[in-house]
Amino acid sequence: MDFLNFVTAARTCRRFKEDQPLTIADLDWLINCARVVPSARNGQNVKFVEVVGQKVYDIFPKTHWAMALKDWGGPKEGERPTAFIGLAIPKDAQPITLIDVGIVAQTIQLAAHSKDFGCCIIKSFDLADVSKSLEIPAELKLELLLGLGVALEVRKVAEVPESGSLNYFRDANGVHYVPKKPLADLIIKRFTD
Ligand SMILES: Cc1cc2nc3c(=O)[nH]c(=O)nc-3n(C[C@H](O)[C@H](O)[C@H](O)COP(=O)(O)O)c2cc1C
Repeated sequence: MDFLNFVTAARTCRRFKEDQPLTIADLDWLINCARVVPSARNGQNVKFVEVVGQKVYDIFPKTHWAMALKDWGGPKEGERPTAFIGLAIPKDAQPITLIDVGIVAQTIQLAAHSKDFGCCIIKSFDLADVSKSLEIPAELKLELLLGLGVALEVRKVAEVPESGSLNYFRDANGVHYVPKKPLADLIIKRFTD
């Protein structure tokens, strides 16, 4: 598949087939994809926590989903993620390490999409509670959670409406649309002979 089509389809997913849980082997594979990505000074300081089984449902209530969808309280039972991957970095890491975290997260989201898994990058979670539950070592900080599962919801890229709103939205059928700016709004200069 053309990569533009692939990455366009690899939208954030927030509803999953809870009856088809991911396994630790699935998470190992996803993290193996992120193991080989670019890293500042090749430091490879992002560490991973793999979560399947009961612990998923222990931390799920401490995660916050789609704040822009005011009338939706997050995935309901039957549509919840079946796995989480926690991304942690040393508390004394250089700020540039956060760029590594982003590269890792997006790589895992793309890798997940290649297997029809969905992924939601989650920064909005109760840091102290989740860190305790996941037994994050004192020298590390949990930066992101990735909520994962077999994808259930249909997600599409939309054009930015006249209003200019970038809010994602759902139609009457529950299809999730994400407005993306056109190329012309993003490229500020072109240098060419
Ligand atoms: C750094 C980062 C943090 C995010 N945190 C959350 C979050 O806490 N909860 C959530 O539901 N989505 C979260 N998202 C997903 C964004 O809402 C999503 O990327 C955005 O709506 C655009 O949708 P798209 O990923 O389908 O393009 C996060 C994404 C990024 C990159």
